[in-house]
Formats: sequence, C-alpha cells, structure tokens
Amino acid sequence: MSVELIVSQFSGDLFRGRRILVTGGAGFLGSWLCEALTILGANVSCLDNLSTSRVENIMHLKKYGNFKFIKADISEYHPEGFDFIVHGASLPSPDDYMRRPVDTMLPNSLGLLNCLEAARKGSIVLYTSTSEVYGDAEIIPTPEDYWGKVNPIGLRSCYDESKRFGEALCMAYYRQYGVDVRVARIFNSYGPRLDPESRYARVIPRFIMQALRNEPLTIHGDGMQTRSFTYVTDTVNALIKMLINDGVRGEVVNIGSQNEVKIIDLAKMIIRLTGSSSKIVFTEARPDDPRRRCPDISKARKLLNWEPKISLEDGLKYTIEWFRRQLNG
Ligand SMILES: NC(=O)c1ccc[n+]([C@@H]2O[C@H](COP(=O)([O-])OP(=O)(O)OC[C@H]3O[C@@H](n4cnc5c(N)ncnc54)[C@H](O)[C@@H]3O)[C@@H](O)[C@H]2O)c1
Repeated sequence: MSVELIVSQFSGDLFRGRRILVTGGAGFLGSWLCEALTILGANVSCLDNLSTSRVENIMHLKKYGNFKFIKADISEYHPEGFDFIVHGASLPSPDDYMRRPVDTMLPNSLGLLNCLEAARKGSIVLYTSTSEVYGDAEIIPTPEDYWGKVNPIGLRSCYDESKRFGEALCMAYYRQYGVDVRVARIFNSYGPRLDPESRYARVIPRFIMQALRNEPLTIHGDGMQTRSFTYVTDTVNALIKMLINDGVRGEVVNIGSQNEVKIIDLAKMIIRLTGSSSKIVFTEARPDDPRRRCPDISKARKLLNWEPKISLEDGLKYTIEWFRRQLNG
C-alpha cells in the first residue's frame, strides 16, 4: 500500500533525467507524485507555498539528489525549462476554500496561466481538476461530456468555477498555441499524508481522527449524500499514466472509483474499522453540497487502461494505521 505500488507499474527508464515541476508538491497527492517520480529517476522540482501542507510530507525526499523543493506561490512564479508541469497547487478542502475564496481562485487562474505560458516553449501540462466541476450532477455515473450544474456565485464557486475556468484556459492554450495539455478530473482521493491535525480536514481524515479519539463523527446534513473514494496509489498511478500517454493530449479524463458510498455508511465503516466507541452526530448541511458523486470511468479504462485496484476497506485500514501512528507521535 506504499509508493512501491505506483513505482512498480512503470519501467525504470521512463522518467530518467526528465525535468518535472509539481506545483502543490508538498500536499497530499503532490507529495506521493513527487516521491514516485523521484524514485523513477526524474529531476523533480516540488513547488509549494506550504499554505495547507506540512513540510514533513516531503522531508524524506531531500536525501535524493534529483529532488528539489522550491518554496513559492505559483501565482507569482514563472517556471522555466521543464519537460512536464503538473499543476496541483490549490485549496481543495471545502472548509478551507470557503474561508479563503481568493486564495483558492488565484492558483487555478494566475498560477495555471504561469504554467501554461511556460509550456508554450514545449512542456506537457497536466492539470489536476476535480469532480466538483460537475456540481450537483444530474447524471450518475457522470461522464466527461456532462457539462455540470454549478452555482457560479455560491460559497463553493471559488473552487468549482475556478477549476472550470482552469479547464477552459487549458483548452484555450491547446487550441490557440498547440500546448500539450491534459486534464485529470479527480474524484475524492484519500490515504496517508492527508493532514491529520487540520481544522479544515476533508471527510475521511476528519472521521478517522474523530473515531480514533472516540469523539462524535460529525456529518454535514443527513448523511445520505454519496461520494466515491479512491486510494492515493490508484489516483497517482492514473496521473503518471496521463503524463506518459499521448492519447490524452487535449483530453479531460475522470479519475475515480465507481464504488459510490453514502457518507453515513462511510462513517459507520470507519467506526467499525477503528474499533471506536464514537457516535454519529448530524450538523447543518453545507450550502450547494452535491447529493451524489460517482464517475463514469470508461474513458480512463479505454485511453489509460486504468481502473482503481484498492478496495475502500483495504485503503481505509491502511490509512487508519497511518493516522494512528501520527496520533501516537
Ligand atoms: N485529493 C482529492 O481528493 C482531490 C480531488 C479532486 C481534485 N484534487 C486536486 O488535486 C490537487 C492536489 O490536491 P491535494 O488533495 O493534494 O490537496 P493538498 O491541499 O494536500 O495540496 C495542495 C497543495 O497546494 C499548495 N498550494 C496552495 N496554494 C498554493 C499556491 N498559490 N502556490 C503554491 N502552492 C500552493 C498547498 O500548500 C498544498 O501543499 C488540487 O489541485 C486539488 O484541487 C484533489
């Protein structure tokens, strides 16, 4: 369940000597991606302003000569000389982005612009978009050609509309300047290195920490809303496949699991797997919270020969063990 699960899927020489920038590289997905690409021999530059992440996520990579950390804000940074740019810098936690809407919109607009301008000299850009571009989707499982049902001025709009703008900007650079862009629409991913102590944690780290502390698990709304969770090694595997597969040039691809789960069932599962005595409590529903979320992944199957391999139960067990170790210092 570690980075080996990713690295073992790719041939040793694929990335040797290739220069790769990962923005948001100290974050959850970014740090796994940096680790896998570093082990695969790429010259990895991890750029992050550490606004939501912990430097511990990448400390262990500093021993590699082909790994470098750049502390910077991508909205004010102009990359140069990269073969690949993975743009992952963003604020993806709802509690976080609703509190800091401007900080959420800038990396997906100005920050992405800086990446795309640099790519006019020949880099491949992989943009990490989100299932949130579909808003409260009316078609489940949702295919890439569904246009979305999004409130453009609602509290979530700083995230979903900036990602929609980001996708449009990618396609504009692809059409006007021929920049090689690839867009991954990621559905909820989870695993070790999600911040265990964040006050603005996403649902899985929040539930796990509450369960491990035997505190009530707090559900926004009635818990009947659904999400589809993908273990991090599966997600990162798909992202690397998108980097090396020219069949996804100028394409948008859903990356997620088709195992749709009700949030209340997720809470019960985490209580069972942690052996916790926690109860479940219901709090006010979040504004514009999508009722259901589940991807159609036919396109990823066809173009990337990819589908998730780790079951929710196995992924959660591994994640819980990691969180337990964090809690025990
Ligand atoms: N994890 C998921 O479930 C998920 C789902 C859909 C989309 N995504 C997307 O994938 C990407 C990575 O998400 P994650 O889960 O790893 O989130 P994360 O919060 O762990 O990582 C994002 C990183 O970006 C950094 N960052 C934020 N603003 C920045 C800026 N202006 N300049 C430089 N760095 C900045 C943060 O410090 C953080 O390290 C994001 O773009 C997110 O929108 C993630």
